[in-house]
Amino acid sequence: MCGIIGYVGQRQGLPIALDGLRNMEYRGYDSAGIAITQGAGIAAVKRAGKLQNLEDRIDEVGVESLKGTTAIGHTRWATHGRPIDENAHPHLSYDGKVAIVHNGIIENFASLRDELRAAGIELRSETDSEVAAHLLARAYNEGETAGDFRASALAVLNRLEGAFTILFMHDDHPDQIIAARRSTPLIVGVGEGEMFLGSDVAAFIEHTKHAVELGQDNVVILRADEYEILNFDGTPATGRPFEIDWDLAAAEKGGYDSFMLKEIHEQPAAVRDTLAGHYQDGRVTLDEQNLTDEDLKYIDQVFVVACGSAYHSGLLAKYAIEHWVRVPVQIEVASEFRYRDPILDERTLVLAISQSGETADTLEAVRHAKAQGAKVLAVCNTNGSQIPRESDAVLYTHAGPEIGVASTKAFLAQVAANYIVGLALAQAKGTKYPDEIAEIYRSLEEIPAKIERVLECEEQVTGIAEVLGAVRTMLFLGRGVGYPVALEGALKLKELAYIHAEGFPAGELKHGPIALIEDDLPVVVIVPSPRGVTVLHSKIVSNIQEIRARGAKTIVIAEEGDTAVEPYANWLIRIPESPSMMQPLLATVPLQYLAAEIAGHCGNTDIDKPRNLAKSVTVE
Ligand code: M6R
Repeated sequence: MCGIIGYVGQRQGLPIALDGLRNMEYRGYDSAGIAITQGAGIAAVKRAGKLQNLEDRIDEVGVESLKGTTAIGHTRWATHGRPIDENAHPHLSYDGKVAIVHNGIIENFASLRDELRAAGIELRSETDSEVAAHLLARAYNEGETAGDFRASALAVLNRLEGAFTILFMHDDHPDQIIAARRSTPLIVGVGEGEMFLGSDVAAFIEHTKHAVELGQDNVVILRADEYEILNFDGTPATGRPFEIDWDLAAAEKGGYDSFMLKEIHEQPAAVRDTLAGHYQDGRVTLDEQNLTDEDLKYIDQVFVVACGSAYHSGLLAKYAIEHWVRVPVQIEVASEFRYRDPILDERTLVLAISQSGETADTLEAVRHAKAQGAKVLAVCNTNGSQIPRESDAVLYTHAGPEIGVASTKAFLAQVAANYIVGLALAQAKGTKYPDEIAEIYRSLEEIPAKIERVLECEEQVTGIAEVLGAVRTMLFLGRGVGYPVALEGALKLKELAYIHAEGFPAGELKHGPIALIEDDLPVVVIVPSPRGVTVLHSKIVSNIQEIRARGAKTIVIAEEGDTAVEPYANWLIRIPESPSMMQPLLATVPLQYLAAEIAGHCGNTDIDKPRNLAKSVTVE
């Protein structure tokens, strides 16, 4: 996720902004930049790549040209537009008087770009963000808000749709920064005769421990000795003051003990951001769409290729696409795909799913598919990485950088993205009516709020893990869309707790795995919605009884209101009601906590970096 720093005070802004960016490096980024003003022209530097590249650039231009006590800085995690110098922030307006940095997604950027182009303004980047700089300059230069920084900023903010934290700097007003937030965070740091802004407190923790959190749709006007908080309509608002009692290391993790726990908590935002902007004017859209509706209509089979957690998300793509689109979907672990010579042609769509976009097995599968004439659509979390670059089209997940090696938020975002792909195919092939697509999309949009509720089970799961202690082995059972969830739960436990864990389709139990059941063996069961395929529900209730009768201890994940499972659960974790296809987005979350907690009891003290594993696996 992008990192943002702002400074207004008495000291030189450059070193403060650079330190702030350094402290936010943990968020992940692919470019960085800083803009500074002292009222005699905005000076800006930006560079793709690591902060060192930016520092090299600063050395080239010389610190003398970057003097000023008002500064904004940004580390960018590319969403719209590749990670190149031109797309790095800050973005300057056409007249050079405005600089902006932005975190989030401006969903209506395409129409705003068209409007600016029609007004003769040249767009210099591929980003959604740049429009905000030009819009502010126009609002300040002409019309009702001319000459009024505050009114111009409010006018622009009210035109932006989507999620954003945005900082505006204007060279005519070098004593202030105007900033705003909608759905993404922004914190004010209150110093002595100086003020800071940060997308998190790590940006300014070295300088002050006094902070104020801005509320949803709040604007702040920041000067060296005061800050004023407004609503988007200009009426006064108040923030939430708090004292920071973390050190820098804790601040980077947002106060969580590990990045993984932080990322589990970021899942509502990851799913929300992934869905944002993909359903507009009654139509589902992908991102870099070099596949037309005609191409999609022509598809008669789908192959999914992926590894690890991405593979599990791909299993869910199979369930969704076959159900919604009625085309056969085959799924293959990417490392096996090309070696068994699958039958592909130009009517085949290969869905390549990868968080990193660099996984060698998946990349080679993509190359093989393209060589056979298939169309490739990538679902990826890393803009500009190799897999999307070599694919015909891409749908980006907006989970932000995932630092924990065990995938959590990227997995949920992949599931959401796979469903968007399924809906785009159903739309192109006409296998679902527009109102049916709208209904499914609506239920997807309800998921982030439901995940928030599931996150509340953390304490309950901690209690379960305490009772279980250092288990030696564990089984996970599911049916239908619960089966990939079982596999994902087992993978998390293997990765984090270093113990044997298996996921099975519950119906397969009687064909062998039931021999593993012994007294006190912990078995997790993901119960399908009783309101969905009812026969599946009643069959899994029988499966739970079978394992309980053989001494297993059952941890049952079931919908609120599902009373049928109560007599057979040693522990019952409730998840909100949702349509069957959406249930994996909820049922996975307790299993992530469970793995993280059991890991501690099994002696893994660093769940962010499990032994033997790498975040990007770039060898076959
Ligand atoms: O970057 P990718 O999504 O292509 O990575 C695929 C797998 O290596 C990854 O999901 C791995 O299984 C994770 N450690 C799972 O937690």
